[in-house]
Amino acid sequence: LKHFLGIEGLPKALLIEILDTATSLMSVTEQTVKKVPLLRGKTIVNLFFEPSTRTRTTFELAAKRLSADVLNFNINTSSSSKGETLIDMLRNLEAMHCDLFVVRHAAGGAAHFMAQHVAPHISIINAGDGRHEHPTQAMLDMYTIRQYKGDFSPLRVAIVGDILHSRVARSNIHALMTLGVAEVRVIGPNTLIPKGIATLGVKVFNRLKEGLRNVDVILMLRLQRERMQAALIPSVHEYFQYYGLTEAILETTHSDAIVMHPGPINRGVEIDSSVANGERSVILQQVSNGIAIRMAVMAMTLKAIPELKDTR
Ligand code: CP
Repeated sequence: LKHFLGIEGLPKALLIEILDTATSLMSVTEQTVKKVPLLRGKTIVNLFFEPSTRTRTTFELAAKRLSADVLNFNINTSSSSKGETLIDMLRNLEAMHCDLFVVRHAAGGAAHFMAQHVAPHISIINAGDGRHEHPTQAMLDMYTIRQYKGDFSPLRVAIVGDILHSRVARSNIHALMTLGVAEVRVIGPNTLIPKGIATLGVKVFNRLKEGLRNVDVILMLRLQRERMQAALIPSVHEYFQYYGLTEAILETTHSDAIVMHPGPINRGVEIDSSVANGERSVILQQVSNGIAIRMAVMAMTLKAIPELKDTR
């Protein structure tokens, strides 16, 4: 594993290996002395061109727990505003002997572009590129599902909301299909469901209650207003009425179905506060699991953990 750019096309064995490595490293995050020397001497740069709370912070914590040096590069105060190109910025950071770039960018394909242009010894991890992929989010979601449900094979998983603009939905669909769940459903208005998504093997539902019948996992998504044309943004009131997850809707689902959300949550838009805070919500557990998953992916890309076989 040289770079970690997306879930699409990765073999099942590699996804399982990431989950198992994260499980081993999870014990580190729970110990009193929260550090292992796996990445001592390595320098990791967080390059976030879009805002982030969970991803940037957990990458930083994960890197520190692996004993790496971490640089949080501030795009807003960098020389990119003076016309420096992305490639020139990369070349300069390379000259500072960095080993790994964690990249979030509004443009789909940005992390792939950087992977094609960095020096051969440098690794790139995609921390979210436009509407395309958010692979470490998908892996921490898979970790959370395995933690609560065990075996993937019998599971029905529903992804609800703005599928069209969601990189989380895309990465999760690829991961769930590769890990062999019984059924993946997407639920939302047709305007927020990509055309042709059924070719990925998912079932499409427009009615929330119908789509949530007999599911084991409910993954709620935020309306990505920043990626919508202003005139096409749905009314919040109407959206909540038809697609908001309320206690009344949750009552109609399996009593052991878990509620997930990648964050940030828009309370009262896609999810009721009482559901987000409720006992079936595993939303904050997802955040905690992000540290172990990001430790695993960074350690694997920097070859700090011997791989069973190099599949990329
Ligand atoms: N889930 C997620 O990517 O959250 P942030 O945008 O806060 O990183």
